[in-house]
Amino acid sequence: MISSRVALLSSSSTLKITALTKKLKKEGKDVVNFAAGEPDFDTPAFIKEKAKLAIDQGSTKYTPSAGTNELREAICRKLKEENNILCEASGIIVTSGAKYAIFAAMITFLNKGDEVLIPSPFWVSYPEMAKLCGAKIKIIKTKAKDGFKLNADLLSRAISKKTKLLILNYPSNPTGATYSEEELKAIYNAVKDKNIVVLSDEIYEILTYDGAKHISFASIGDAHKFTVTINGFSKSFSMTGWRLGYLETAPNFIEAISKVIDHTTSCASSVSQAAGLAAIEDKKWPQTMRAEFEARRNMLFNGLSRLKKIKPFKPSGTFYMFCDIKKSGLSSVDFSSNLLDKHLVSTIPADSFGAEGFIRLSFATSAQDIEKGIKRIEDFTRGL
Ligand SMILES: Cc1ncc(COP(=O)(O)O)c(C=O)c1O
Repeated sequence: MISSRVALLSSSSTLKITALTKKLKKEGKDVVNFAAGEPDFDTPAFIKEKAKLAIDQGSTKYTPSAGTNELREAICRKLKEENNILCEASGIIVTSGAKYAIFAAMITFLNKGDEVLIPSPFWVSYPEMAKLCGAKIKIIKTKAKDGFKLNADLLSRAISKKTKLLILNYPSNPTGATYSEEELKAIYNAVKDKNIVVLSDEIYEILTYDGAKHISFASIGDAHKFTVTINGFSKSFSMTGWRLGYLETAPNFIEAISKVIDHTTSCASSVSQAAGLAAIEDKKWPQTMRAEFEARRNMLFNGLSRLKKIKPFKPSGTFYMFCDIKKSGLSSVDFSSNLLDKHLVSTIPADSFGAEGFIRLSFATSAQDIEKGIKRIEDFTRGL
């Protein structure tokens, strides 16, 4: 009965481990959770207050399918001022989470057999969404020695006549890698004039470290013409459950993507949109969270760097730390499941990110738990 497209899908290993971690915690087990894919901060009170007010004032009905005009205009101002993207409010669609913005864009562009280029390690949902659209996935393997970054050489070798879409994601989930303007320009030169759409997922833009500045791909040369920028509120304002994201693109694409939204979700939640409007005007709160994550990153990196059988890579962004565990002699899955079973530390095996021999740790957890987790990983790896 199941369609062949859906039968091809793998289930999300990230969500599975997250569910198991929650279950163990509920049973009273003292689990250190390095598996989380969301900030551990509560949504700020000023955002919640705006949402309550919106409910009381009757903002409880469908909004225009691309989002309220106020929110689209506010997003447009942000993208112009902070991201240097020459956008119009009419080029923005507010969606039920960034995840749905990605899917709506993919289904708009992809025909059966079209090739989608996905640099690995990758976020688990990109290949699955491409499969749902009937597209062919071409993984571009990046190397640890290059900081897990795509470059013009790798990209040029991967592009074929069938290539329709390139996925960029930086700061990257799962490696935390991000790109300088120069590196983005090299990628731009390799894709321009090739009739390829670039889907640039910049959902972690706020979380960059060591003074790095986030540069949007759509701000390079004339990339705006062939780029769909993805962003949202989940990671910047700790609003994962509000399901609020957006995409921005050129006028020639926007109408087609709008039709997908019209006939699928109708619009993002009206209450979440009102909350998002309060959030986007605030520039301070995300910076406070960012500074806290940078301190935790340093703590986790310094702690893990001392250990012998695990090699952490220092992320330039996100709240993820990618670690090479090949010296342990275990597979990614065995490492993660033994660590959880025997030492109650939850991590994500990176085989599902296209990177066997690695695991992903999230530092979206308290400093106290980070200390405890490092100690437990030390005990675990010493016994191997
Ligand atoms: C790289 C990446 N893109 C998109 C998303 C989806 O974000 P949202 O909660 O807005 O759907 C995630 C969530 O984990 C992510 O890691």
